[in-house]
Amino acid sequence: MPSMLVLGIESSCDETGVALYSTDAAGALLAHALHSQVEMHADYGGVVPELASRDHIRRLVPLLRKVLAESRQSLAALDAIAYTQGPGLAGALLVGAAFAEALATALGIPTVPVHHLEGHLLSPLLSSRPPRFPFVALLVSGGHSQLMRVTGVGEYELMGETLDDAAGEAFDKTAKLLGLGYPGGAALAALAERGRSGMVKLPRPMLKSADLDFSFSGLKTAVLIKVRELASVSEQQRADIARGFQDAIVEVLVSKALRAVKASGLRQLVVAGGVGANHELRCRLDAQAAHARIAVFYPELEFCTDNGAMIALAGALRLQAGVSSKPAGAFAVRPRWPLTGA
Ligand code: KG4
Ligand code: ZN
Repeated sequence: MPSMLVLGIESSCDETGVALYSTDAAGALLAHALHSQVEMHADYGGVVPELASRDHIRRLVPLLRKVLAESRQSLAALDAIAYTQGPGLAGALLVGAAFAEALATALGIPTVPVHHLEGHLLSPLLSSRPPRFPFVALLVSGGHSQLMRVTGVGEYELMGETLDDAAGEAFDKTAKLLGLGYPGGAALAALAERGRSGMVKLPRPMLKSADLDFSFSGLKTAVLIKVRELASVSEQQRADIARGFQDAIVEVLVSKALRAVKASGLRQLVVAGGVGANHELRCRLDAQAAHARIAVFYPELEFCTDNGAMIALAGALRLQAGVSSKPAGAFAVRPRWPLTGA
C-alpha cells in the first residue's frame, strides 16, 4: 500500500487536538498541535459543554494551519481525515466531525471516524519503544477505567471495567474535596508527594474480588468522611489524605492490571489515558511488573491525555488494516459508544 498522509482531529471534551501522521516506511507523526481549555473551564469547577463546543470552533482552523506549516505539507497532500466520533460531549464531537467531514468533502478524500478510546489504546505505538500486538491495555482516563485484551487494530476484548466512577474521575472528585482546582488529577498527585504513606488509611475497593472490575466511588466517599472527621485540615493532613488516596487507587490498578496480564497469558501491558501520566502508578507498576517479567509500555507523557496524534494514528492504522473509511459527507456522532462490540 502506498504511504498515506492522515489528518487527525480530536474534540471530544476540553482539548482541541490536530495532528498529521504519515504511514511511510517508518510510520511517523509529522506534526501535532493542541489547545487545552482547562483555564477556561477552571472558574466553573468542571467542563461547561456549550463553552467547550464554541472554543473548539475557534481553535480548529488555527491549529490545522499550524500543523500544516510545521510539517511543510499542504491540504492537497492529505489522503484521509480521521476524527473522534465518540464517546464524548455531543456538541464538542459535532464540531470536530462537521469540520472533518466538510474539509474532506471539499478535498474529495475519505474520512475515518475513530473511537476516542481506540486512540488512547493505540497511543503507546507513537512512542520510540512501541509494544507489539497482542497486549493487555489498562485504560485509565477521566471517563473510563477498563482492562482490554488488544489482539490487533479493531480487535478489542473487554476484560474488566469500573462499575461506577472512572479512576480519573475519582482523582478529580477527591481533588475537589481537598480544595484543588479542576481537573485535579495532576495537582492531587503533586500534593500526595508531600504526604506520608500510611498516615491515612483508606479502603482498597474490590482489590480481592475474583473479577477484573473496579469501583472507585467509595474511595471518594471515604475521603469525604475523613475530611469531615477533622475539624480543620492542616496542610500536612491534606497531603497525607492525598497520599492515602493515591496509594489506594494505585494499589488496586496495579494489582488488577497485572492479574489481567497473567490471566491473558500475554507478557505485555500497555497503560493509556490521563491517569497513565501518574508518576506513582508508573513507579509501582514498573517495579511489580519487572518482578513478574511483564513488560510495561506507556505513551509519551504529552500523549497520555487527550490529543490529536492518537486519533491520526488510529485513523492511519485503521486505513492500513482495511478496517474502515467512508466517503466524506453524511455523518453522526456517538456521545455514548462502547469500544467493544462497536
Ligand atoms: O485521557 P484524558 O485526557 O481524558 C479522558 O479521555 O477522559 O484523562 C484526563 C484525566 C483527568 O481525570 C485527570 O485528572 C487525570 O486524567 N490525570 C491524572 C494525572 N494527569 C491527568 N490523574 C492522576 N495523576 C496524574 N498525574
Ligand atoms: Zn481521553
